Amino acid sequence: MLRGKKILLGVSASIAAYKAAILIRLLKKNGAEVKVVLTPASLDFVTPLTLSTLSNNPVYSTFVNEDDANAEWNNHVELGLWADVMIIAPATSNTLSNMVTGACNNLLLATYMSAKCPVYFAPAMDLDMYKNEATLNNIAALTNRGHILIEAEHGELASGLIGQGRMAEPENIVEFLINDLKKGLPLTGKKVLINAGPTYERIDAVRFIGNFSTGKMGVALAQQALKYGADVTLVLGPTQVPHVLDGLNVIRIESADDLYKACIAEFEKSDIAILTAAVADFKPKKISTKKIKKTGADLNIELEPTLDTLAELGKMKTNKQILVGFALETNDELNYAKDKLKRKNLDYVVLNSLRDPGAGFGHDTNKVVVISKDGNMVETPLLQKQEVAVAIWNNIIKEHV
Ligand code: CTP
Repeated sequence: MLRGKKILLGVSASIAAYKAAILIRLLKKNGAEVKVVLTPASLDFVTPLTLSTLSNNPVYSTFVNEDDANAEWNNHVELGLWADVMIIAPATSNTLSNMVTGACNNLLLATYMSAKCPVYFAPAMDLDMYKNEATLNNIAALTNRGHILIEAEHGELASGLIGQGRMAEPENIVEFLINDLKKGLPLTGKKVLINAGPTYERIDAVRFIGNFSTGKMGVALAQQALKYGADVTLVLGPTQVPHVLDGLNVIRIESADDLYKACIAEFEKSDIAILTAAVADFKPKKISTKKIKKTGADLNIELEPTLDTLAELGKMKTNKQILVGFALETNDELNYAKDKLKRKNLDYVVLNSLRDPGAGFGHDTNKVVVISKDGNMVETPLLQKQEVAVAIWNNIIKEHV
């Protein structure tokens, strides 16, 4: 959800400023790009070096960067425009009040006033200050302005008192942000199951039967579902290609049997399942625990069919669930794909033909026909797999969600 999001973190002078370090790490872990602007007073609580190292970006606390031999102006307008989201955490009583009045006596406040993006603020102060009418009025003024409050939590405060006033824990801020950004997206509240990649069927201790699938199409579909607000589980085979998997619930599997078990276990709680994996149709009947030595003679490996996960999910499917399969064909494509759609009780089948250059295994591109059980067909040109994923999702969303 946060992948590629540009997040500007404003840190003001509270003991909770140390939590900014953890917050930056979590935001980065979720794929966000983070820049930090601090009030000068917050430098007593946290060092710029810690925050610049964690954010992997310079941090800003003054209008002019005086350390530089050629003094440079830190452009608050640029910072404000750069951000997709601004989070002020911790937001002290003083910063809240300056945000309300438009006082602009530090770079954080100037940047806040230049920001055009959604602004979240996480107050931190002592319990009586938090309950004070002035604070309540300031918070109300900011939320009326459209800014989003991340409520302070209850617990032990720096003063030793116990009550509401602690800045929300960084994990809770990130969770709040993700849930808030999901609002209004087409797949918010939906659970999506996707499988991707090849399966490996062991022959002996060192060998397997596999295929050339890289999992790129399935991962693109999973990432797009995440962008559309879904809670996504990705069952991923042993692909050697590095994938960006931030924000996905990933279950790594090796064989067709593993894939079957993982998908059957996850399907019941899923609203939509898309099965892109190139599952082995056969596996060795016996797996040798030792490496099979060559003898000079022929070697016959007896194979038996694997379980068909898609067909099984088709049997389990309720009329509230949507099931999508892929069909990779080399000839008589449309007929084979339509047959799979019916035979496996699917709502959609996505056909790719190995006769189309640039489509199918390994490429960054694909060209597909999405066929629905009602007989509707949508064909894409050759596109990047991410763009094909958008087209597939838009088609499902238009008809079903
Ligand atoms: N599939 C599956 N389990 C298997 C084999 C395939 O879940 N053991 C799924 C794939 O993930 C894909 C769809 O079935 O979504 C079609 O896979 P494909 O290999 O094209 O077709 P098969 O069902 O194997 O049929 P055929 O061999 O006749 O092409």
